[in-house]
Amino acid sequence: MSNEGFRVHIALPDTRPSEYEAVIAPGSIGRVPELLPAEASADRYVVVADAEVARLYGESLVRCLEEAGRPASLLAVPSGEPEKTRARWAEVTDALVERGVGRDGCIIALGGGVIGDLAGFVAATYMRGIPLVQVPTTLLAMLDASVGGKTGVDTPLGKNLVGVVRQPALVVMDPLVLRTLPLAELRSGLAEAVKHGAIASAGYLEWIESTGDRLLERQSNALAELIAWSVEIKASFVTRDPEEHGPRKALNFGHTIAHALESLSAYTLPHGHAVAIGMVVEARLGERLGVTREGSAGRLEQVLERLGLPVRIPGSVPAREILARTARDKKVRRARTRYSLIAEIGQSARSEQGDWSIAVDADAVLPVLAEAGADV
Ligand SMILES: NC(=O)c1ccc[n+]([C@@H]2O[C@H](COP(=O)([O-])OP(=O)(O)OC[C@H]3O[C@@H](n4cnc5c(N)ncnc54)[C@H](O)[C@@H]3O)[C@@H](O)[C@H]2O)c1
Ligand SMILES: [Zn+2]
Repeated sequence: MSNEGFRVHIALPDTRPSEYEAVIAPGSIGRVPELLPAEASADRYVVVADAEVARLYGESLVRCLEEAGRPASLLAVPSGEPEKTRARWAEVTDALVERGVGRDGCIIALGGGVIGDLAGFVAATYMRGIPLVQVPTTLLAMLDASVGGKTGVDTPLGKNLVGVVRQPALVVMDPLVLRTLPLAELRSGLAEAVKHGAIASAGYLEWIESTGDRLLERQSNALAELIAWSVEIKASFVTRDPEEHGPRKALNFGHTIAHALESLSAYTLPHGHAVAIGMVVEARLGERLGVTREGSAGRLEQVLERLGLPVRIPGSVPAREILARTARDKKVRRARTRYSLIAEIGQSARSEQGDWSIAVDADAVLPVLAEAGADV
């Protein structure tokens, strides 16, 4: 890492914009104005943040833009997943109209994945699309949500059901802001990093394990390295497959079960915690199906537990309920549910037909759910 931190260049030839940079460095939030590329040069900037993040970092970001001669204002919205709605999208777009923001405006999404998705969807649709800068402030948003261009909102029937894929012009990630993040949220992001190791790099998984204490102590250099490594991995999948027809599906490892558990908990279970449990369950499923090398689930459990993440289904959740929810997941095709599995630690699995997700009968999933603590 140089004094400037890490820079990951993300090139996506068939998308707009076709390339952008993710800058990962302690203190980088104060350098947003100088980092803005020509595509994000605007007459005015609107920083969209949730109330908590607006209070912590919003005013200072606006001040820093203004001092650099970039007219800026703050638009705060309530925080939390229940706020990622079409109604909130309408409210934010209305506020932009009221503020007189035109095609020469630029949105800066400052916050966790909820704000990134919501403000990103606003930027993608407002006046048929204005530039977007992502300044993620949760670990999960940094190493996962802010890279790849997926934006959108939830509906009462499911998460992320309305949205578009559109790339930001710049992503700025400052690990120093993670000092104020609640520990459960920090761990949530670490689960996605473990997922990146599980699907793409055994070496990365080992590094996460050996660096676990420093990461949990929020040492900014360790966090910057973690974020850069994860962003490289996520970007490699997204670059190969921006619209998620093939390889990008590997990033859904652990997520079929995770989405069911989150939904059953009425979203009280943090996403990354659900992903941690989901990865262990899906690795065991893979082992049972002969897709995943024996011992992979155990290895994941070991790393996740070291990071203080859950590996068993909490409370008493009926296995059949979990299965019913997986059937409603977007990744379902026909009667069987599709899972993105791993072949071994560091390698995602392909089906015999070369698919990046594998259709599995519900009956095969029941025993692994039971093993993970679900009621049968
Ligand atoms: N677009 C994608 O590719 C993608 C990928 C993964 C997840 N997501 C989405 O991301 C969302 C989850 O994101 P999240 O986990 O970041 O949750 P979040 O955005 O709800 O943030 C979690 C909480 O942390 C607070 N917070 C944020 N930054 C903080 C900071 N630095 N200090 C103190 N508090 C802070 C927020 O106010 C919020 O209460 C979900 O909606 C999910 O669908 C999107
Ligand atoms: Zn996830």
